[in-house]
Amino acid sequence: MIVTIDGVAASGKSSVSGGVARALGVPYVSSGLLYRAAALLALEAGVDLRDAPAVLGLLEGRGVRLEPLAEGNRVWLGQRELTADLHSTRVDKGVSAVAALPDVRAWVDAQLRLLPEPFVAEGRDMGTNVFPQAQAKFYLTASPRVRAERRAKERPEDIPAIEAALTRRDEADRRQITPAADALVIDTGPLDLQGVIDVILSTLPDCR
Ligand code: C5P
Repeated sequence: MIVTIDGVAASGKSSVSGGVARALGVPYVSSGLLYRAAALLALEAGVDLRDAPAVLGLLEGRGVRLEPLAEGNRVWLGQRELTADLHSTRVDKGVSAVAALPDVRAWVDAQLRLLPEPFVAEGRDMGTNVFPQAQAKFYLTASPRVRAERRAKERPEDIPAIEAALTRRDEADRRQITPAADALVIDTGPLDLQGVIDVILSTLPDCR
């Protein structure tokens, strides 16, 4: 069984996927972390983020591995854990460039397709390109302002800058973020986290 949850940046995909996965008793798979790992390795190596052979060279054969745990995904480079370094501002800014490289996308897709079922997969193109055969597909949206407000939480003065950065990333990711034709689109704006999880679980009666 595969459930896919795609959506725009900061739409709550990870938290929602984690909640749905826990309710179903399966792991969740955060595909964005592999793109973030690609960006981090390229930035650390001083490689041009648009240089596909160089970025791919950093990924292949170096033991980059996603560990899809139910309580939160972890990413490893051999024995080194990359997870804590994957949400920095420079990775946020650079990740869309490496994610636009077809060779990098093919590498990520291959890693994801090796994972044992069942799982909940979240990202941009889980229900369209990677797991078109998924049993249930969801697509989360919310306005840039709502997403920025959620991200900013304790620092309302940061909302305009966060909103601008999210909008830039949505634009850069545009090619990847079309909902699957058979996905249920959920506007998370009026809902809290548990509300979104409940909508998803209520449409999955056979999986519970
Ligand atoms: O989901 P998250 O925000 O961590 O994803 C980081 C970036 O990885 C996205 O902005 C996008 O560029 C890329 N991505 C993608 N396809 C996916 C998941 C993430 O292109 N399935």
